[in-house]
Amino acid sequence: MDSKIKNLNEKLALAHLGGGQARIDKQHEKKKLTARERVTYLLDEGSFEEIGALVTHRTKDFGMEKQQFYGDGVVTGYGTIHGRLVYVFAQDFTVFGGSLSETHAEKICKIMDLAVKVGAPLIGLNDSGGARIQEGVRSLGGYADIFYRNVQASGVIPQISAIMGPCAGGAVYSPAMTDFTLMVENTSYMFVTGPNVVKTVTNETVTSEELGGASTHSTKSGVTHITSANDVECLEDIKKLMSYLPQNNTEKPKDLPFKLQEETREVLANIIPDNANKPYDMHSVINGIIDEDSFYEIHKDFAENIVVGFARLGGKSIGIVANQPLYLAGVLDVDSSTKAARFVRFCDCFNIPLLVLEDVPGFLPGTDQEWNAIITNGAKLLYAFSEATVPRITVITRKAYGGAYDVMNSKHIGADMNYAWPSAEIAVMGAKGAAEIIFKKEISTAEDTDAKWKEKEAEYASLFANPYSAAERGFIDEVILPQDTRRKLIKAFAMLEDKQVEKPKRKHGNIPL
Ligand code: COA
Repeated sequence: MDSKIKNLNEKLALAHLGGGQARIDKQHEKKKLTARERVTYLLDEGSFEEIGALVTHRTKDFGMEKQQFYGDGVVTGYGTIHGRLVYVFAQDFTVFGGSLSETHAEKICKIMDLAVKVGAPLIGLNDSGGARIQEGVRSLGGYADIFYRNVQASGVIPQISAIMGPCAGGAVYSPAMTDFTLMVENTSYMFVTGPNVVKTVTNETVTSEELGGASTHSTKSGVTHITSANDVECLEDIKKLMSYLPQNNTEKPKDLPFKLQEETREVLANIIPDNANKPYDMHSVINGIIDEDSFYEIHKDFAENIVVGFARLGGKSIGIVANQPLYLAGVLDVDSSTKAARFVRFCDCFNIPLLVLEDVPGFLPGTDQEWNAIITNGAKLLYAFSEATVPRITVITRKAYGGAYDVMNSKHIGADMNYAWPSAEIAVMGAKGAAEIIFKKEISTAEDTDAKWKEKEAEYASLFANPYSAAERGFIDEVILPQDTRRKLIKAFAMLEDKQVEKPKRKHGNIPL
């Protein structure tokens, strides 16, 4: 028996060494942790249980039968984060560059299947040279097996992807179909085709970092939701993100202990400037309302005219969607609409109530927006809110103009509670533009056109640049003092806790894509 135990221990020791010490050193030189170090750091101490440590590939072409590494380039298994079960796979760049073989894919699929059966989140740590070139179509099939499972698991369990090295070609589509993609700055990149192919096909000269580095995907494409300075920060970010999420779509996120006390927040009374055209930072409204330091922003550097993220309110996990007057006056455009729509749909999948903070002057005009389908993209946000069945509350802090009023979680599309601050202006458009259109004749024929314009602007403003016309019709449930907002919201979300919505039977809706 002793020799058999020795034999097993030798095999496991080899598995732990991955592609060998020299390749591990190379990984460290690149300021990257190894797959096992990442898993160990991510999970609660001692909680990791590995599955498939002794799997090897089955390829015999190109002399591959002589190159065998236990684990075949991916460490898979389960463990806990803050005591909660999660399934993890971490690609091991020291074994064939973390490339995906048939067996490597089978290992990932095995834990994906378990995660769905048990109802626990799946976390993928990607660091891979893509399809195992020696395996040809078998590895492509492996990718497709994973993609298929990503889609079947979507909306059932949270799926999180961290890109911690290369992720190219077909490999990008698994992270793209998961709920959140994180990238590590300077050591990770994602692209469908690399700089060499780009040069050949389009004659563009571009570096990997410019083409698909973390800053590119967090600012330009929006492919990544969170960027982290290094591996350790990325793993911490995953743990933080997890703290707002439930285990699966049948559960709610775990509440933190909370006791309702005096919840007045005077700071909120002094944020909105007297001049309606002056910007202010919506983060100060968010931070004024939520539990201290609890905001975790998603997609921070992309489409900054809308802010989305998770927070705690009275100990409960909520999702926040807020127009940001600091950028483009908080207008809705193509990018901000798709950013917010995706976030709304995630929250709705996983029973996370939604809070909308609204200060929106409308949709961004122009050929760029129209030609890039602001109609279809704006409709995504409208659709996402309209189909969401989680508790939904809106607070209009200032502008709620035009079609954007409807889109931003209005009463008419199913919001449960709609509040407005006294500074709210709920109208078809701003008073200046409105006066110019409806009093055009009167203004142009007046002796002093400027004075007439101002007079008509004031007339329109007094009628509509306030929340009362909407409140009279019940489109707004209550006009509230800013300093009372936190208390009102805590109570309203508690009141909505057991909200149930029955939907007619259908296969699925047809969201405008
Ligand atoms: N299939 C098989 N082996 C691969 C591989 C792949 N797709 N990608 C990398 N490897 C192997 C390399 O042969 C090398 O093996 P070794 O340790 O035995 O020398 C090891 O992984 C590390 O690769 P290397 O090229 O030395 O690392 P790098 O950091 O300099 O470059 C990449 C990383 C990903 C840019 C580079 O390996 C690459 O371009 N790989 C191919 C990408 C690709 O076209 N994939 C297929 C399409 S999806």
